[in-house]
Amino acid sequence: EKGNYRHFMQKEIFEQPTVVAQTLQSYLRQADNSIALPQFDFDLSRVRRVTIVACGTSYYAAMVAKYWFEQFARIPVDLDVASEFRYREPVLEDGGLALFISQSGETADTLAALRHCKEQGQTIGVVVNVPTSTMAREADLLLPTHAGPEIGVASTKAFTCQLAVLSALAAHMAVLKGLMSPEEEQRVVEHLLEVPACLNSALDRDEEIAGMAHLIAPARDVLYLGRGPDFPLAMEGALKLKEISYIHAEGYASGEMKHGPIALIDEHVPVVVLAPSGPLFEKTVSNMEEVRARGGKIVLISDREGIAEAGEGCMATIEMPRVHPLIAPIVYAIPVQLLAYHTACLKGTDVDQPRNLAKSVTVE
Ligand code: F6R
Repeated sequence: EKGNYRHFMQKEIFEQPTVVAQTLQSYLRQADNSIALPQFDFDLSRVRRVTIVACGTSYYAAMVAKYWFEQFARIPVDLDVASEFRYREPVLEDGGLALFISQSGETADTLAALRHCKEQGQTIGVVVNVPTSTMAREADLLLPTHAGPEIGVASTKAFTCQLAVLSALAAHMAVLKGLMSPEEEQRVVEHLLEVPACLNSALDRDEEIAGMAHLIAPARDVLYLGRGPDFPLAMEGALKLKEISYIHAEGYASGEMKHGPIALIDEHVPVVVLAPSGPLFEKTVSNMEEVRARGGKIVLISDREGIAEAGEGCMATIEMPRVHPLIAPIVYAIPVQLLAYHTACLKGTDVDQPRNLAKSVTVE
């Protein structure tokens, strides 16, 4: 049931504070602000390398997780889209952990990759939203997301719940490896517990973002830029826009602009920049200058500090709460979802059932 919402996608976007809180609740112990994963008989502290495989939006969640695993737990991560993984003859270490991320738990390419890894003796971890799915049944380590049924074809709440689980997992592995002290763990948990409130403040920008749809709707191409763990968010923003508004969009690492895509920039190509203030912000500001110098029109998504510093001369700005870098990718998912959603509404496309797409892709 859609209730008061126009589309399932819209309802699911607005459910995120609740379902992310639900998901986090099952991975965090609030009594002592620690991380508590489900029980399984596999020693995570032995893991030296993680292989992560997924498709589409779930792949972008995996990409964010790579930054987290490497930064916090110092565990190298191999990352692939499932359709590439099996056929490139990946080298898998004995006793390795392979993680599969999927909303449906039925995506054929991801499932085939999972079975391949199983045959190779890997331990199979699965982050999945449908608890009765094939992937859930075939997992050694089941890490459920609690997003509830996702009806809109474009994934929204499943994505942020995947990120919630993966952030807890990365932090937990950092604790197991002795790289995160109990005090630091507590602080990380405190930040994670703030996520639902931050998602609510991001959702408060809904009307403002709806008012920006007319800036995006006439475009033929849109670029999304981000750095570090916000780079996958740029790709996710571009995917959402493509899927439901049929506008061509690409996500790039901000620093890659000058290596090619800058050739596309003119006054007709909106550039959406995702840039929470922080150590990487200055670099992104200079990438924005490169865009502006070529007449590019920027939509800047940042916090108050970032907008104060770099908002001038932008076509539009979207203010996010100031958040810890660990949780920024979860919070910044909201404005890119809303921008795609409102642009599609303005164009009058079928938001919940975009052309040519199926909710679950069960053929390879
Ligand atoms: C994007 C989208 C798809 C899915 C992809 C994987 O909005 O919905 O890209 O993310 O097909 O699906 P799951 O996560 O079910 O394996």
